[in-house]
Amino acid sequence: MYLKSKVVVRSFRPEDAESLAKQANNRKIWLNLRDLFPYPYRLEDARRFIARTASQVPEENFAIEVEKKAVGAIALIQGKDVERCSAEIGFWLGEEYWGRGIATSAVESVRDWAVETRSLIRLFAFVFGHNTASRRVLEKAGFELEGRLRCSAVKDGRITDQLLLAYLSPRMGKI
Ligand SMILES: CC(C)(COP(=O)(O)OP(=O)(O)OC[C@H]1O[C@@H](n2cnc3c(N)ncnc32)[C@H](O)[C@@H]1OP(=O)(O)O)[C@@H](O)C(=O)NCCC(=O)NCCS
Repeated sequence: MYLKSKVVVRSFRPEDAESLAKQANNRKIWLNLRDLFPYPYRLEDARRFIARTASQVPEENFAIEVEKKAVGAIALIQGKDVERCSAEIGFWLGEEYWGRGIATSAVESVRDWAVETRSLIRLFAFVFGHNTASRRVLEKAGFELEGRLRCSAVKDGRITDQLLLAYLSPRMGKI
């Protein structure tokens, strides 16, 4: 049986590049992410991404580690100005690891860390309308559907809806 407690979310390290590139180089993953995410995804892309991540303050990108290997990534991008209390979350996982609750476990870890340590009160995510797995991950982690942004994105030459899902910190009632 796979133990969810074996999913670790941590900072990237230079030695993650090879594993990261191997898992990221997948059109099925690219199809569900912004075009900023490259395809094909080369070792050089992973190295550049990890180097950029190391200089971020606050840190925005984290490795999803399973069996001692970085096999996915999760991002937490805090808003600016009046939106500094909220952050966008995004994630992907290598296909060979799908269907074991790993992404849900990673989202739950980042969610708890974000509200407890970073004092964020709202986390949100945009999901392409057809991405049932991602929507399900977010709903399992306590995010709720707030709306459908009709025809708001173009991916792989197709216009698509995006779903907006959000999680509010339990502290919200006290602010
Ligand atoms: C989305 C993604 C991160 C999910 O990772 P994962 O570790 O397999 O997710 P989990 O196992 O935690 O949960 C997946 C859930 O979606 C469900 N699911 C998967 N594919 C589905 C489908 N086509 N239709 C309906 N439900 C589906 C699973 O059954 C599971 O729900 P359950 O626990 O109720 O059975 C992974 O598929 C991925 O990296 N996809 C490409 C990138 C991406 O979409 N990123 C998110 C962008 S917002």
